[in-house]
Amino acid sequence: MKPLLAVESIGKAVGARDVLKSASMWARPGAVTVLLGRNGCGKTTLVKISIGLVRADYGVVIYDDQRTLRPRLHELARRGLYYLPERNLLSPAFTVRDHVRAVEKLVPDSNAPHAVELLRVGEFLGRKPRTLSGGERRRCEVAIALARNPRCLLADEPYMGIMPIDVELITTGFRELADDGCAVLVTGHEVRTMLEVADEVIWQTAGTTHYIGSAEHATQNHQFRREYLGLDSPI
Ligand SMILES: Nc1ncnc2c1ncn2[C@@H]1O[C@H](COP(=O)(O)OP(=O)(O)O)[C@@H](O)[C@H]1O
Ligand SMILES: [Mg+2]
Repeated sequence: MKPLLAVESIGKAVGARDVLKSASMWARPGAVTVLLGRNGCGKTTLVKISIGLVRADYGVVIYDDQRTLRPRLHELARRGLYYLPERNLLSPAFTVRDHVRAVEKLVPDSNAPHAVELLRVGEFLGRKPRTLSGGERRRCEVAIALARNPRCLLADEPYMGIMPIDVELITTGFRELADDGCAVLVTGHEVRTMLEVADEVIWQTAGTTHYIGSAEHATQNHQFRREYLGLDSPI
């Protein structure tokens, strides 16, 4: 299916450094697209450009068939995009339950109880974010994203530094969103986890991006194997 969100041929210099030179990514309804790359390769910069939090030097952003150089997050949010930043989505002043209730008020057809159940965050409802581990907090964030029923979810580094149980539940959440027709884009550097959740893989390196297909295709891609996985022979 054609992408709901796409950024094409993006360039961005930070100081004297070209962080991005012709980088592209997208999110398609019904699929989990993974943007995989090492720390510092520019994933967050590209994601922020796609939602207008950082301004690109050149390139185009397309959301729902509308092309723009300067997207605005509140406008995209109104049209169904949900952004899960690298950190601090939840407000420290409120409990997880308060956050869930806020979603229920905002989104009349939300299915919060199901999201809470799927991510197994019921036991955290009475707690404030700072009393949870990083992975537990992430599970709450993904449950809230799920409850909002987004058309497009951008999750930046959701797997960073968390336990296997949290990884598994979060992957289940992304999978369910995609199965319900959401366009899901997930960034990260944890190759095994990323390939497990991916329907398709975009590899970001040296300021640009390479579309390397399904997880199976990715592991057979010679350049990716050599440069990212550090492998010369078949796995
Ligand atoms: N506002 C900024 N000021 C200085 N350097 C920045 C800024 N934003 C990004 N960078 C640099 O751009 C590069 C890409 O960063 P980032 O997009 O956060 O990468 P990733 O998310 O892949 O880890 C890094 O080298 C980072 O230091
Ligand atoms: Mg990042």
